[in-house]
Amino acid sequence: DTTGTVIKCKAAVAWKVGSPLKIEEVDVEPPKANEVRIKMIATGICRTDDHVIKGALTGIHFPVILGHEGAGIIESVGEGVTELKPGDKVIPLCIPQCGKCSSCLNPHTNCCLKTHISKSQNLMPDQTSRFSCKGKIVYHFLWTSTFSEYSVVPVDAVAKIHDAAPMDKACLFGCGFSTGYGAAINTAKVEPGTTCAVFGLGGIGLSTVIGCKTAGAARIIAIDINSTKFNKAKAFGATDCINPLDHTKPIQEVIVDMTDGGVHYSFECIGEIETMKAALESCHLGYGTSVIIGEAPSAEQITFDPVLLFTGRTWKGSIFGGWKSKESVPKLVSDYMENKFNVDELVSHTFAFDQINEGFELLRTGQSIRTILMF
Ligand code: APR
Ligand code: ZN
Ligand code: ZN
Repeated sequence: DTTGTVIKCKAAVAWKVGSPLKIEEVDVEPPKANEVRIKMIATGICRTDDHVIKGALTGIHFPVILGHEGAGIIESVGEGVTELKPGDKVIPLCIPQCGKCSSCLNPHTNCCLKTHISKSQNLMPDQTSRFSCKGKIVYHFLWTSTFSEYSVVPVDAVAKIHDAAPMDKACLFGCGFSTGYGAAINTAKVEPGTTCAVFGLGGIGLSTVIGCKTAGAARIIAIDINSTKFNKAKAFGATDCINPLDHTKPIQEVIVDMTDGGVHYSFECIGEIETMKAALESCHLGYGTSVIIGEAPSAEQITFDPVLLFTGRTWKGSIFGGWKSKESVPKLVSDYMENKFNVDELVSHTFAFDQINEGFELLRTGQSIRTILMF
């Protein structure tokens, strides 16, 4: 029984911006009040983790244990935790749901004020870390830090999932699938018979395609500069696949021509200012809605022609698919287990945890959709 003891285990530590992750032996302290310690079973690799490694997201302290798309089992719980017990299957939540803040009490947003956007999640709520390596403090990331055999997470950022959930797929509900699918279902509220455009066909974009298809979109235009992504996009329901590099005109003009004035809904799943503007310009005036899902590098600003909005387009953003995380993730996993949608094809590679840097290399070279690491 490891309850109450410091656990020594393997974790991938990001020591500084730009360096490969290093598998190290780390110390993981027991959970304090209102925290749990999770034995990680599986974790996905998401582009956001790579943004941090590259230094594109500021406000992250190093050394840090990244990873925010995991699934695991409760090893032990801290004082005051009654809703979870050792052995429970869980997903750490990169967007918490505290249930008490002004956002949690508002039915129209999932953006809990305990997320990193409002207040740093590099430390536990008591402003200390549970991780150390070679006597040095190692920071948490988004309160999830799934690139570790064991991680400590506040209960506000943990969802208990079905006992029989397959962990190598369940981890996708911690970010990629929930984010893309929910952007179509909750944020855009895609209506049957409409036309959608999805910019970027990574794990997020393909999950958005699944959401558009599930909502009954008649036409789904998938856009990527890497045409090798098109087969999967079609399998998930894309009706047209276009590569901006094959056109001399800007891609938004190509889309407007294809759709008699623009689409009903567009989604930016890349994280670049230029494609955010292209997605907005691809929408039909009067009724088009564009949703930003991709995360732009910190501090970048956008300039755009306000006439685009003046003439009735709507521009929105979506974080974690608009799902109130703690209550929605268990339902999404159960819906998956009842075959309401299939996420299996999002997994392009499954590796052992030690091969984490190979997984990042596949992401950087555009060869993977989701790489799942098994502990
Ligand atoms: N036009 C079209 N497609 C592009 C462009 C571009 N200018 N630039 C990149 N892409 C494509 C890539 O070829 C890739 O297929 O966008 C896709 C992005 O997918 P991933 O890198 O796998 O990223 P993903 O994990 O899906 O995340 C997408 O959402 O959560 C955020 O931080 C994340 O900003 C990132 C975005
Ligand atoms: Zn992510
Ligand atoms: Zn909250």
